[in-house]
Amino acid sequence: MTPVIRPRRLRATPALRDLVREARVHPSQLVLPVFVRDGLTEPAPISSLPGVRQHTLDSLRREAAAVAEAGLGGIMLFGVPDEADKDAAGSAGARADGILNRGLRAVRAEVGDATVVMADTCLDEFTDHGHCGVLDAAGRVDNDATLDAYVRLAVAQAEAGAHVVGPSGMMDGQVAAIRDSLDAAGHAEVAILAYSAKYASAFYGPFREAVGSSLQGDRRTYQQDPANRREGLREALLDLAEGADMVMVKPAMSYLDVLADVAAASDVPVAAYQVSGEYAMICAAAERGWLDRDAMLAETVTSIVRAGADIVLTYAALELAAR
Ligand code: PBG
Repeated sequence: MTPVIRPRRLRATPALRDLVREARVHPSQLVLPVFVRDGLTEPAPISSLPGVRQHTLDSLRREAAAVAEAGLGGIMLFGVPDEADKDAAGSAGARADGILNRGLRAVRAEVGDATVVMADTCLDEFTDHGHCGVLDAAGRVDNDATLDAYVRLAVAQAEAGAHVVGPSGMMDGQVAAIRDSLDAAGHAEVAILAYSAKYASAFYGPFREAVGSSLQGDRRTYQQDPANRREGLREALLDLAEGADMVMVKPAMSYLDVLADVAAASDVPVAAYQVSGEYAMICAAAERGWLDRDAMLAETVTSIVRAGADIVLTYAALELAAR
């Protein structure tokens, strides 16, 4: 048999493959997540996230300058407070002198508008129990009381200079509540990147080390069940109706079906977060010589874009941009 249709024709040379490539990853669509820790004098390595550090305010500024220099799309800040500043309400998050808000000011002073400055808008880094919300008398995460706390966080982050706030706690109504209060506080220009479809995932393991999380138990009453695909789309549609400027799916690699669903339905840009465990398992296998680190990072991030992400948050953003 002689085939008439020969797809291999377009794979014959690097130039042909470049010409017909469907998905391309550009630095301007990559966002680097970073951690800034209160009271540090030197940047501190995170053992389960090779190459990623907890920053001092100074090293954070330098990292932000590198992000702008590399032409990355943005930087996403997470704060790591002193243990002594954690309480049941996570109040250190909303204080102007809380570590995340100081970090935002330092980063904006460094980069101005040269890259997009984003803040994780959540309580888990700041609560002594480690949950993403405040608890009721029975110890359950209280949705509506948590919204009041998120609103204070978001306004404080806008005041500290965030271009974008990223509510990641999976409380019902969080996008509408934050939009309303940002507008009322005179921050109509601050955008909301909604962590819309966020799953209760084992892939967040290294992140918990990175932020010194105090969590006992799990987040299954608010983050989604990994078994549910339809629900991911539903969450994204709700956030769109509430006024989200961008929607996100998280984690990325094990949720490409959800990402594709959301990308097909969304009329705003769609982001995906290649989370700590996804990055760490590539690093770990590469350290053993089992996988090629560069090739794995390129293939996984390309797959995330192919599935429909316009924006990718990844700990490898700087090294991907350097290629
Ligand atoms: C919550 C938050 C988490 C991550 C981002 N925002 C942790 C969680 O939900 O448990 C995880 C990111 C990662 O694993 O890289 N503030």
